Amino acid sequence: MNQSRSAAALPSQPVGDRAGGLRAVDARTMTGAPEWVQHAGLIEWVARIAALTQPERIHWADGSQAEYDSLCAEMVAAGTLRPLNPAKRPGSYLAWSDPTDVARVEDRTFICTEQREEAGPTNNWIAPAEMRATLDGLFAGCMRGRTLYVVPFSMGPLGSPIAHVGIELSDSPYVVVNMRIMTRMGRAVYEVLGEDGHFVPCVHSVGKPLAAGQADVPWPCNPTKYIVHFPDTREIWSFGSGYGGNALLGKKCFALRIASNMGRQDALAGGIGWLAEHMLILAVTSPQGVTRHVAAAFPSACGKTNFAMLIPPKGFEGWSVRTIGDDIAWIKPQPDGSLRAINPEAGFFGVAPGTSAKTNPNCLASLSRNTIFTNVALTDDGDVWWEGLSDPPAHLTDWQGRDWTPEIAQANPVNGKPRPAAHPNARFTVPASQCPSIDPNWDNPAGVPIDAFIFGGRRSTTVPLVTEARDWEEGVYMAATMGSETTAAQAGATGIVRRDPFAMLPFCGYNMAEYFGHWLDIGHRLKASGARLPRIFCVNWFRTDENGRFVWPGFGDNMRVLVWMLERLEGKAQGVEHAFGTTPRYDDLVWDGTEFPRAAFERITAVDPAEWQRELALHDELFSQLAQGLPRALTRVRGQLQSRLGG
Ligand code: GTP
Ligand code: SPV
Ligand code: MN
Repeated sequence: MNQSRSAAALPSQPVGDRAGGLRAVDARTMTGAPEWVQHAGLIEWVARIAALTQPERIHWADGSQAEYDSLCAEMVAAGTLRPLNPAKRPGSYLAWSDPTDVARVEDRTFICTEQREEAGPTNNWIAPAEMRATLDGLFAGCMRGRTLYVVPFSMGPLGSPIAHVGIELSDSPYVVVNMRIMTRMGRAVYEVLGEDGHFVPCVHSVGKPLAAGQADVPWPCNPTKYIVHFPDTREIWSFGSGYGGNALLGKKCFALRIASNMGRQDALAGGIGWLAEHMLILAVTSPQGVTRHVAAAFPSACGKTNFAMLIPPKGFEGWSVRTIGDDIAWIKPQPDGSLRAINPEAGFFGVAPGTSAKTNPNCLASLSRNTIFTNVALTDDGDVWWEGLSDPPAHLTDWQGRDWTPEIAQANPVNGKPRPAAHPNARFTVPASQCPSIDPNWDNPAGVPIDAFIFGGRRSTTVPLVTEARDWEEGVYMAATMGSETTAAQAGATGIVRRDPFAMLPFCGYNMAEYFGHWLDIGHRLKASGARLPRIFCVNWFRTDENGRFVWPGFGDNMRVLVWMLERLEGKAQGVEHAFGTTPRYDDLVWDGTEFPRAAFERITAVDPAEWQRELALHDELFSQLAQGLPRALTRVRGQLQSRLGG
């Protein structure tokens, strides 16, 4: 076998009789491809990656329950997974990662386009040729002593015209079992692909080869990490991490970074284009039986899962909220002018801490079985625990395997707080079908029509509870300039306000200024065709008082805000117009079943001119960073805001 061939060549290249090329029959023999795989280009690509990475064996995943069970059993034997008490948490496992591999690594995430400007100033960029040379070096022999798993998956319902297929090659069995929950994974994908269908090639390695006889560790990973995207060839390469969005390549890498590019490319090629967004999707039905669909973008660990599974509080009898997705939406304009959205995922990879029977009962019920927990604490009776679930038990084993008691936690503070038993970015992986509030349409290949977009950051000051944009352009401006405090979902310091346009800062696979333009274009084109555009709202659940406590109760009470928004769609609810849009007054919301004080409401809806002058200065900073290609419409809205604010 010729190992000098570029590992980066496209899988769609014909299997050749070219000098040094692999013959199809050799590739099939070498990789042990089963007869249900008939895609010669794919088999050749697997052979090529195997030649580069040198795994001990190749396993073609079929996605069966038996395969899942046996991989889990192997990981239990290896110490990667711990089976939970079957009486308490049937079919469930706990994984503890390496303490250095606990979140997405944004500073190690790259968009490799020919020109730096195509990736834009908000993405890390390295020229493709240079990156390919780096990757060739890193991946050479990186799977020695391990199994290379071939993981076929569909983002979106199998065979649906809006779905897209990927194949992930990974040396992590943890990735395989998580991908089986998070995507439509398995043999049926090959039927969709046939002999020459297109797929997004994804290569992943934990980057920890094993020498002959060398013992493995429970969570292999490498301090050197690269999460790399080649938009031009739609390839993903990930090295060094086994955690979440770094390793489950269908999620952020494909369904957001590559897919946002695909949606934009469609427009450049003369289509209307489509959107790949960091959004939950929910359906809400009024007591009168009217159903509306809402897509909401909040940054990582800012409440998408909670909002998607909201249970209407007391006083909202007769309303129902159902879940379609909790993290990603693919949204496609239709010939009739509607925007239809699907959730390309099949499971939830959600934040555990803060999830409880009080904050999110639907989520908690979803987690009762068949769940993989990562980096939560273990109870003495073989169940899981995390901060916010309940009163802390007297004794736990923390996410690093250490004894944990409330006293030990107090004695070892982290950032001035008792040391948590679960990592703040501890997560669960669970099939969407287990969610009690799952919508009957969640799996519908046609998707659901979106009536409103909501954007929301985590802001302790400045931004009101809810504001409706006056039109599409002002809504795009609001989303583009959104700020949010960083959370544990990304490596690095938390609580720092940064601009997170559309909650897509870490996920937009091309130039952010052009992404704004793409949103504006889609709006203009739909409007020109006579369509009624979705309304755009901006929310903030996170304003705090002088003691740093959240003023707004949030969670189920967010229904009050949601209902106001829906009534605005019907032209029913009132509000007061201010410099930035329209915000309800106290009496414009329904307060049945609660005693939330008028003064507190006024506090979290106040628009302070001095704070907003400072905020506009931060918008300016973002716009000067994105000056190249920034749509003029946004600078125009900026000017209007300034003059409304008086200045
Ligand atoms: P990713 O999966 O990282 O993209 O995030 P997500 O947006 O789905 O995050 P999730 O819903 O899991 O939010 C987790 C954090 O947000 C927890 O700390 C929750 O307690 C907090 N949270 C969610 N909803 C609310 C709310 O309405 N009010 C307040 N104050 N906190 C909330
Ligand atoms: C996020 O960080 O926005 C997530 C979790 O949804 S991860 O899949 O790790 O990116
Ligand atoms: Mn997310």
